Amino acid sequence: MSKQATVVILAGGQGTRMKSKMAKVLHRAGGKRLVEHAIAAASGIAPPDRIFVVVGHQADAVRAVAAESGVGSIHQKEQLGTGHAVMCGEDQLAGLDGVLLVINGDCPMITTKSLQQLLDLFESTGSGASMITTDLDDPTGYGRIVRKASPDGNGDVLAIVEHKAATEEQRKLREINAGFYCFDAAAFWKHVHEIRTDNPAGEYYLTDMIEILLRAGHRVTALKIADSSELVGINNKLELASADKIMRDRTVRQLMLEGVTVIRPETVTIDAGVTIGMDTVVEPFAQITGKTVIGESCRIGASSIIADSVLGDEVEVFPFSMVSACHLESKVHVGPFARLRMGAHLEHSSHVGNFVELKKTRLGAGSKSMHLAYLGDSVIGSKVNIGAGTITCNYDGKKKHQTRIGDGAFVGSNSTLVAPVEIGTGAYIAAASAITHSVPPKTLAIGRARQIVKEDWAPKS
Ligand code: UD1
Ligand code: CA
Repeated sequence: MSKQATVVILAGGQGTRMKSKMAKVLHRAGGKRLVEHAIAAASGIAPPDRIFVVVGHQADAVRAVAAESGVGSIHQKEQLGTGHAVMCGEDQLAGLDGVLLVINGDCPMITTKSLQQLLDLFESTGSGASMITTDLDDPTGYGRIVRKASPDGNGDVLAIVEHKAATEEQRKLREINAGFYCFDAAAFWKHVHEIRTDNPAGEYYLTDMIEILLRAGHRVTALKIADSSELVGINNKLELASADKIMRDRTVRQLMLEGVTVIRPETVTIDAGVTIGMDTVVEPFAQITGKTVIGESCRIGASSIIADSVLGDEVEVFPFSMVSACHLESKVHVGPFARLRMGAHLEHSSHVGNFVELKKTRLGAGSKSMHLAYLGDSVIGSKVNIGAGTITCNYDGKKKHQTRIGDGAFVGSNSTLVAPVEIGTGAYIAAASAITHSVPPKTLAIGRARQIVKEDWAPKS
């Protein structure tokens, strides 16, 4: 049986090379923050109460992300290096025996599978430490792996030499430390205070533990992974963009294999975690983000943005629409050029057309608002027709008020409904009415000046 694992995710650094006010691990790639990707990979290895994120720079914000994912955190007040980062967790972690897995929080592409392979190697070789390595064409900036000479080049590890501290000769080594380590927890805590700061950066390097554990008589082994794409660390926005691209490509490919039709897949933006049903068509330049769930046989129009929303089956979103935090039931039609937001709920077979905005509004089954309307804070029944240009005046300058419209009502074009107001079931509002008082069911309300025609009024030319 494998030993119980504890995972520490290093996420305390600022990431100065990002040139950003925001801590590096809070930047997003593939729709998730970098640290969330690390947490996701760690979650396949250890239970949440054995996963800890080291927080330092913008500690509160990073801790909040950890808490959201249900994992713990370790506070590193001052960022004195990766070794120091783990030391800060001594009180919380030293009692947890078994395997200590330490992973860099800025490597979002790592998979649980590779971490598991690292654990397997660590256990099968009885090592005191193991790490993931890979060969890079350009290893600049990374720690280099120095191995014991062996015919197959696969000898045990003697040291990790940081780029800054490496000799010209060592800098030629192409095998790099990827930033994922397994340690024997007891040996780690016994020796961790032997890390010194006698290096060019004056930091406590976690990588010094390799030589320390060797001196203490432990074996140190490495898992070399051929495909280095999974291991890249994000240090600047260029690397962030290329990781983002790789992850989005993965997401889109997976969706296509699951039966989603994506037209010009290289142009769409779909976050990891979005689900889309079979035979749904995603048109070019669509963006589908956050916690969105889309059913089967839908159409997401070109350049539309769907964020954090739930769509049933056979929903059609025509091009250039924005749908955010909404629920669209099956067979709903939206757009082109529609804006739905803040909890709008469109019931079965309802239609919303061009230049219509819905905010916190429920539109009943089969109801239609096809052109140029604003429907805010409203509850609209089924089979209602909302004429072009209808506006709910929901805001009096201080408070928002509700508009209620009963089943089967007909709201004529260019009506102004001053909330709070209620239009009864089957009522009829004459075009261009300003409605300031509630309208009983089945009545006709006309709220506008009667037309006058002045004979011979126009000047003769
Ligand atoms: C580190 C490794 C290097 C390896 C590379 C792989 C060390 C000394 N070097 O270098 O061998 O090739 O990763 O990507 O470990 N962090 C803290 N607290 C700190 C400093 C850093 O939590 O005081 C966190 C950072 O937020 C980051 C991670 O540790 O997520 C790695 O730090 P970074 O400064 O990026 O290390 P590298 O120079 O890339
Ligand atoms: Ca790094």
